[in-house]
Amino acid sequence: MRVAIIHDDVGPRDTPDALDVLDQARAVQDAVTALGHTAECFPCTLDLGGVMDRLTAWKADLVFNLVESLKGKGRLIHLPPFCLDAMGIHYTGARAEAMLFTSHKVMAKKRMAAAGIPTPAWVGPYPETVGQATMSGKPSDTWIIKSVWEHASIGLDEKSLVEGVTPETAFSLLASRASRLGGSCFAERFIDGREFNLTLLAGPKEVQVMPPAEIVFEDYGADMPRIVDYAAKWEKNSFAYQHTVRRFDFSPADQPLLDALVVLARRCWEAFGLGGYARVDFRVDADGRPWVLEVNANPCLSPDAGYAAALAQAGLPFTEAVRRIMGDVQGVPV
Ligand SMILES: Nc1ncnc2c1ncn2[C@@H]1O[C@H](COP(=O)(O)OP(=O)(O)OP(=O)(O)O)[C@@H](O)[C@H]1O
Ligand SMILES: [Mg+2]
Repeated sequence: MRVAIIHDDVGPRDTPDALDVLDQARAVQDAVTALGHTAECFPCTLDLGGVMDRLTAWKADLVFNLVESLKGKGRLIHLPPFCLDAMGIHYTGARAEAMLFTSHKVMAKKRMAAAGIPTPAWVGPYPETVGQATMSGKPSDTWIIKSVWEHASIGLDEKSLVEGVTPETAFSLLASRASRLGGSCFAERFIDGREFNLTLLAGPKEVQVMPPAEIVFEDYGADMPRIVDYAAKWEKNSFAYQHTVRRFDFSPADQPLLDALVVLARRCWEAFGLGGYARVDFRVDADGRPWVLEVNANPCLSPDAGYAAALAQAGLPFTEAVRRIMGDVQGVPV
């Protein structure tokens, strides 16, 4: 099979969060080759017509879709899969609609709320959504201001947490933060508690949930915000990077919580109609109640990221995961 790996068009001047897609592409190319297929990488630009022409000329049987943004804009993530659908080219991962509905974090939250999946109260991103019934948190709570479309904790730092957002103050606050958060942002009730990532992989019969991972905030002082912010993900020399630690070992007392997380992760997979692979991010409040922060329909596949760590914990080789992802393809023939 001829497998075209499409990924963001990045260059040496880009930031580490953007360049990371090249590590993913390399890892996937090695795995696809090890499975006996022909694999080639194609940077995906906004010239989508040109990209589709190149894929067709190369006679791709399948596209492995690693595109996270076009021209650095996360809000364009869903365009390549929509184009692939239109061209009748099969591709991996979530289908185009699921990519759109998960990548817009507020649309995703609305769908979760409708499906009865707990997600923290929110305000925004548009003025008309401020003060709607969805703002079920108390104004005195702590809120986090985050991007609607961007991922990788872009624009998140200690200033992202604010006290006492009210329907009256919310919109001007959002407007003042939007530019550093990809142009659109919203306020979400801050869940001050444990953080978990649940990794999902299409199985032969049904989706398989890998062992839950907790991100532990080691040696964080009482006044330090416990968030996996931009520094924690990308700045190797920062305190946050070195003190946010992934763990898979839990005490028996945690088992009911872990079971609940697994059930919710599966419900997210079904509610969004996900495909191939995914990761669901959670926080757990002081009462032990889990909340879904977001559903990642194309989580990072780099060898040093959480997805690969969860596979390793499950004893599943990365190549086997790639084989399964390639077996759960999206798109319809012309
Ligand atoms: N409502 C919240 N309550 C507590 N912490 C939060 C909340 N929202 C975000 N965070 C913190 O910010 C981090 C990044 O948030 P989120 O996962 O929503 O964004 P992202 O940039 O899309 O991340 P990813 O790299 O997973 O795609 C979370 O891992 C968590 O530590
Ligand atoms: Mg996340």
